Amino acid sequence: MKHFLKLLDVSPKEIEEILNLADQLKYENKHNIPHPHLKGKSVGLIFQKSSTRTRVSFQVGIHQLGGQAVVLNPGETQLDRGESIADTARTLSRYFDGVMIRTFGQNIVEEFAQEGSIPVINGLTDFAHPCQVMADLMTIREQKGTLEGLKLCYIGDGNNMANSLIVGGLKTGMSVYVACPENYRPDASVLEFAASYKSFVMTEDPLAAAADADVLVTDVWASMGQEGEAEIRKKAFAGFQINRETLSVAHGDAIVLHCLPAHKGEEITEEVFEAQAKVIFEEAENRLHAQKAIMSLLMRD
Ligand code: CP
Ligand code: NVA
Repeated sequence: MKHFLKLLDVSPKEIEEILNLADQLKYENKHNIPHPHLKGKSVGLIFQKSSTRTRVSFQVGIHQLGGQAVVLNPGETQLDRGESIADTARTLSRYFDGVMIRTFGQNIVEEFAQEGSIPVINGLTDFAHPCQVMADLMTIREQKGTLEGLKLCYIGDGNNMANSLIVGGLKTGMSVYVACPENYRPDASVLEFAASYKSFVMTEDPLAAAADADVLVTDVWASMGQEGEAEIRKKAFAGFQINRETLSVAHGDAIVLHCLPAHKGEEITEEVFEAQAKVIFEEAENRLHAQKAIMSLLMRD
């Protein structure tokens, strides 16, 4: 594994390796056992969109690994004034040992990886959110003891989270049921990948998708960059919500995940969110451990 750009590129064996190391790093963190895998290394964190969890979990994670993080917020680099990705990648490769990028097009992280000479981690693009899904898989495995054979249900927009969950879920042996409105389906490349799995089901019926599910996941109806479509989307997504009724058809001990931030009252009710808060904030914590594992595997000597 040279980069971490999308789960389509990561093998089931590599996913398991990341999850196992993440569990180990969480244990070491809780027991104050040092794990300086990035000692003496510098990692760039480039943001072209807002962030709370990604920014903090990467920066703190790099510190815990003995490295140094350099955070570049939206508007702070020459990229935002039109300097090319290729020139930025070739420059930053001379300073950093690795870089995380949160941006719009998937082509930006792919081109950075192609033109630079350091590992690139996707910290969210319009297409994918692979670090979040590694934290989600880690959380499911912690809560359920396994991934193989579980039923994962995603309800909502066929966005970056849906794209990554479908691939991550199928590659780890889960059956994946996705309910999206007709015009808001996951990316064609992901649907093409999923089509070879009998355990993948795409529907427009949220309750059919949720039936007997072990894990229910949702995400905002309008992602970053889609703020102008918020009102149209509210209409299109009516009914694509995780609520009491959804849970009533799911498995009795189903868990609910949300990558956050949540729009309570839209994709999830406040009641369900609060009832599931313990696991949702464990999921948020697991960003830290999962990303430390990814960085260690990509950047340690
Ligand atoms: N889930 C997630 O990526 O959160 P942030 O947008 O706060 O980084
Ligand atoms: N789909 C959301 C995820 C935020 C973490 C977005 O892209 O805004």
